[in-house]
Amino acid sequence: MLARRSFLKLSSLGLSAFGFSSFRSEADARKPIVISTWREGIEANKAAWAVLSKGGRALDAVEQGVRVTEASQNCCVGLGANPDRDGYVTLDSCIMDEFSNCGSVAFLERIKHPVSVARRVMEKTPHVMLVGSGAQQFAQAEGFPLEPQKLSVEAQKAYDNWLIKSEYKPVINIENSGNLKKQEAFAPHKLENGNWNHDTIGMVALDANGNLSGSCTTSGMGFKMRGRLGDSPIIGAGLFVDNEIGAATATGQGEDVIRICGSHLVVELMRQGNSPEMACKKAVERIIKIKGPAAKDIQVGFIAINKKGEYGGYCIQKGFDFAVCYADDKNFMVPGKFII
Ligand code: GLY
Repeated sequence: MLARRSFLKLSSLGLSAFGFSSFRSEADARKPIVISTWREGIEANKAAWAVLSKGGRALDAVEQGVRVTEASQNCCVGLGANPDRDGYVTLDSCIMDEFSNCGSVAFLERIKHPVSVARRVMEKTPHVMLVGSGAQQFAQAEGFPLEPQKLSVEAQKAYDNWLIKSEYKPVINIENSGNLKKQEAFAPHKLENGNWNHDTIGMVALDANGNLSGSCTTSGMGFKMRGRLGDSPIIGAGLFVDNEIGAATATGQGEDVIRICGSHLVVELMRQGNSPEMACKKAVERIIKIKGPAAKDIQVGFIAINKKGEYGGYCIQKGFDFAVCYADDKNFMVPGKFII
């Protein structure tokens, strides 16, 4: 596999910085560019942009970008996030580059940066995916420290609250950024039931050399069954990159993204000539068709960019926004269009 990889390697229109914008994205192709899910994307994009703006590789940008979110102690992602129903935080992540190299870790505990472990899986093993204790063992062997097994204060509070009823049901990921005051709009917040208002950060980028990469990282559904995996560590579901066409990533209820191989579907729809926005819309419509009336009980959002740097996003229902960055002073939220 390593030999194969070596072979493969041979062979402005943002209305206000950090504000909301609603112009037609497809008319606005740019390079380099990075986009990412939810309002945490603003901070993550800054780190990615620091790489892209210096001519760096999209792969480095998408790793550096989501590491910011993974390190945050007050988010849906990383060790500060909500635990599973047995009280353990388990993390899932994947990364994919312009050569179709990819790496993934799932059900990983006590490691701060799953995305970087996923990259090591991609670069240092003949495999794509490592899970559970094997992934943790590999991470430690690669020098990633084992962090204390301790919930963040916020997560402990939410878990204690959840334990009162121990209700096991999916939560719709909605931010309603449009309803928030500007100063609140980028602060992660929790829903009344103690869950984060969303679950995942996915990021896709096009670098100055015209190469695409993507990353996706999550703690998964809050209070999930122990051992449950969603779409985020699954190449083709939570993330897909085809350097000839484009890149896509997903957020929301992973089970329904997996059902349609969502991110792969979005890229294939772009291959058929759809804009990134239209491709995301058609993928969302497919989920709605499968789910029928139950679609109103879930949220899924996709974002995508194509080889020209055009971008777009779509979701099932109102409340999903994504962050777009293509200059030092152009890093802004775009409300995801929705169907229901
Ligand atoms: N989209 C993240 C998950 O379902 O786990």
